[in-house]
Amino acid sequence: MKIIDVLIVGAGAAGMMCAIEAGRRGRSVRVVDHASKPGEKIRISGGGRCNFTNLEGDRVERFLGENPRFATSALKRYGPQDFIKRVDRAGIAWHEKTLGQLFCDDSAKQIIRMLTDDMREAGVTLSLGLSVDGVERSGDGFEARLSDGSVVWATSLVLATGGKSIPKMGATGWAWETARTFGLRVTETRPGLVPLTFEPGLLEKLAPLSGLSVEAVISHRASSSAERGRPNEETAFAEGMLFTHRGLSGPSILQISSYWREGEAITARMAPGEDVYAKLKAAKEENGKQMVHTALSHIVPRRLAESVCEREGVKGKLAEVGDKVLRRLDEAVNGWTVKPVGSEGYRTAEVTLGGVATAELDQQTMAAKAVPGLYVIGEAVDITGWLGGYNFQWAWSSGWAAGQHC
Ligand code: FDA
Repeated sequence: MKIIDVLIVGAGAAGMMCAIEAGRRGRSVRVVDHASKPGEKIRISGGGRCNFTNLEGDRVERFLGENPRFATSALKRYGPQDFIKRVDRAGIAWHEKTLGQLFCDDSAKQIIRMLTDDMREAGVTLSLGLSVDGVERSGDGFEARLSDGSVVWATSLVLATGGKSIPKMGATGWAWETARTFGLRVTETRPGLVPLTFEPGLLEKLAPLSGLSVEAVISHRASSSAERGRPNEETAFAEGMLFTHRGLSGPSILQISSYWREGEAITARMAPGEDVYAKLKAAKEENGKQMVHTALSHIVPRRLAESVCEREGVKGKLAEVGDKVLRRLDEAVNGWTVKPVGSEGYRTAEVTLGGVATAELDQQTMAAKAVPGLYVIGEAVDITGWLGGYNFQWAWSSGWAAGQHC
């Protein structure tokens, strides 16, 4: 049996960060991952350029969970500027794309290389293509049986296997199952930052719009379920929205999907900042012979204008329609309320909402309060960020925090 200080399961963003920090403290650290390469989600993130943090990545109100304030300590002690300094030291060029989102100029692989180089320097052992067949408490540590038949005993065990999104990349619920076996509570888990889907009838009507992208403000009001917290509070995101052959996608939809629940509606303002009624009325006064859909296509893309007119049963020239109809079109463009039937699920979700309950963990160290030596970090914890670099920042921060202690 091999005896080490720290066994980390999961060589993703959080696990590698934790390993580097613990290794630098002189701990003997082994990271085990069933994938053949470390940091596969880093590699595919941000379209291959990794949106590695957000300039506002330490703002706790940009995170969801039973108690997002839990994240404050780690995010403040190791924040976006700390990670940026590290990226700068590694000579990785980056740029801000939009809304504080920082991306590599070149490739996400540079971030992986930086982390694996740091792990090597810190003396960390990385074992790929290996999983943990069983783990149990043994004395004041943990005994883990690995899939190659070997047994490892470690003082500290770090659960860093992330969430369930993109199962074809090997995502599993291992961290939650293991946390449960040690008596830790796991909150409801579900796909987040995910496209939303429509029922077939609506999809057929919207089919001509597939592939169309518009700038939109998407809002949502949570139903008044006591468990959800913040009942009736409105959440809104102003970013791109994309019509797909399944429903809606694009940044604003991914963002709202983390707040949306089955049975609830979302509202889209597809010409934000525009008074559609006033514009159509002015167009009518100027040239009543103009077709309604043509006038509307000066405000929203033509395909959308035609679809809105068709769905509202509005045909003909501006002079032939009354103010009531113009108001209806305004409502259809800037108050389009629709009930998605579901989401595309873990297959395409960027994150998993929920996870190991923060009430079970110490916010300074990420250690389980009731199980000395057990730590949970990254996406496995019930902390989920907005789209835009927040989830990696949580992985870096929580991994760093555990790495100071484990
Ligand atoms: P992560 O998932 O990174 O790592 C978990 C590791 O555990 C993996 O290496 C996996 O192989 C391993 N593992 C799983 N089960 C195991 C088992 N049973 N045994 C052994 N090993 C196991 N975020 C962001 O901030 N900016 C971005 O640009 C993006 N982009 C993005 C794109 C796509 C397509 C996805 C799916 C996700 C993103 N994200 C993102 C989210 C981000 O990737 C995610 O939040 C972090 O990778 C979470 O880091 P973790 O280390 O917690 O898990």
